[in-house]
Amino acid sequence: MGSFAKAERLLARLQALGQVGALPGGGVCRLALTKEDGAGRDLVCSWMRAAGLNVVVDGIGNIFGTRAGTQPGPSVMIGSHIDTVATGGIYDGNLGVLAGLEVVEALNDARIATLSPITVAAFTNEEGARFAPDMLGSLVHVGGLDLGHALDTVSIDGARLGDELTAIGYAGTAPLGAIKAAAYLEYHIEQGPVLEAEAIDIGVVEGVQGISWTEVTLSGRSSHAGATPMRLRQDAGLAAARISAGVAEIVRALGGDMVGTVGSMKLSPGLVNVIAEKAVMTIDLRHPDEATLKVAEAKLADLIASVAAAEKVTAATRVLARFEPVGFDHALVGRVEASAKALGLSTRRLHSGAGHDAQMLARTCPAAMVFVPSVDGLSHNVRELTQPRDIANGLDVLATLALDLAGRANTAMAGQPHTNIKES
Ligand code: GLV
Ligand code: MN
Ligand code: MN
Repeated sequence: MGSFAKAERLLARLQALGQVGALPGGGVCRLALTKEDGAGRDLVCSWMRAAGLNVVVDGIGNIFGTRAGTQPGPSVMIGSHIDTVATGGIYDGNLGVLAGLEVVEALNDARIATLSPITVAAFTNEEGARFAPDMLGSLVHVGGLDLGHALDTVSIDGARLGDELTAIGYAGTAPLGAIKAAAYLEYHIEQGPVLEAEAIDIGVVEGVQGISWTEVTLSGRSSHAGATPMRLRQDAGLAAARISAGVAEIVRALGGDMVGTVGSMKLSPGLVNVIAEKAVMTIDLRHPDEATLKVAEAKLADLIASVAAAEKVTAATRVLARFEPVGFDHALVGRVEASAKALGLSTRRLHSGAGHDAQMLARTCPAAMVFVPSVDGLSHNVRELTQPRDIANGLDVLATLALDLAGRANTAMAGQPHTNIKES
C-alpha cells in the first residue's frame, strides 16, 4: 500500500540537490549561507514556484512555500533544512524539505484541494556547523532568538551572518513568524543505528535530547619545543588534549545515553617545533534528561578549571548552544504512529539523538517527526545513505498524515493556489 505521493520524483530531486556543492568523492558541502547554500536555495525555490507555491523569505532567510487551502487559517507546515555540514550527505534535512514539496506536487497532480493551507519550510542554518547555535533559523522564527542578535552571529570563518545572507540574496522581507502553523511535521533520516538494527520501517519520534555546546579557549605561552624543559611550559595544546580525554572519561562514567564529543580543536601557531600558545576547542554534550546534562556540564567546568591550573594556562569558555530536551505533542506523535501502521509499516518509538527544527517549532504548535533507517547508522558523513524503499515508506506516512491534518476539501482544486501573504 502506498500514498498519492511519488517517491521517484523525490529521489530524483534529492540527487539533483545533492549535486549542488557535491564533493569529489561523494557527499556534499553546503555550509549555511555559503554560495553553495545560495545555489541550493535557488533550486528549491524554483521547484516551489513551479509547483505553484507562494514563496516568501523572512529576515533570517527562512523560506516558506505555501499552497493555499480552501479556508483561511494556519498551515500544516512540513519542513526541515537544506544546509549541510562540510562533509555531509544528501539526505540530512534535504529529505524533509523535498518530501514536503513532493506532498504538495502530488496533491496538485491529483487535483486534491485541502481545507487548510500547506506550507513547505526550509529553515536557515539548522546544522550550526558554520554559525552557532544550530537550529538558528527556526529558533528566530518561533521568537526564541532576537533577529538583530542572530544577524550579528560570526561564523567559524569570521563572516557576519547578516552579511552572508545579503550576499546570497536571502535577506528576506516577510515578517518573522508570519506563516502560522497549526501543526509541524518533519520527515528525517534517523542518523543513528536503531531502526536498521531492529529492521523497523518507521521511527516515531517522541522527542529530542538536550544539547550543550561549549567553546573553550586556552591561552598559554609559545616557546621552543626543544629548548623548553617540561616543567617550564604553559602548553595550551597539552591542556586541550587533557580536556578532550577528560570529556570522554566524564561521559563514560555517566554512562547510559550520555554522549560527548570534541569535534574541533585548533592549535596556534600550529607548528611542529613551537609549543602552542593558544588552543580553541569545542565540546558537544547531549543527554535526553536535563538533570544528567547539567551534571555533565558541571563536571566539564571542574575539568577545565583543574587542567588549566595544572598546565598553567588560562581558560575562557563561551556557550555556543544550549537547548533543553524537548518532548513532542503526544496526540500528533500518536497520529504519526497510526498513519504508519495503517500503511502496514512496522514502527518503533524513539528519541532523536540529533537536533532538529521540529524541536523549535514545538514551542509554538504541535510538532512531530517521522524517521526512516540510515544505512550503518551513518550521518554527518559523505557515506550517509537511506534506501529508496525506506524513503518511499516515510514519504507515504508524511503524505497521508499531512492530507489528514489539512483536511480534504469536497471541491477539486481549481485555478492557481494563492495566499494572502505578498511574495518577496
Ligand atoms: C544538528 O543538527 C545537530 O544535531 O548537531
Ligand atoms: Mn538535519
Ligand atoms: Mn545534520
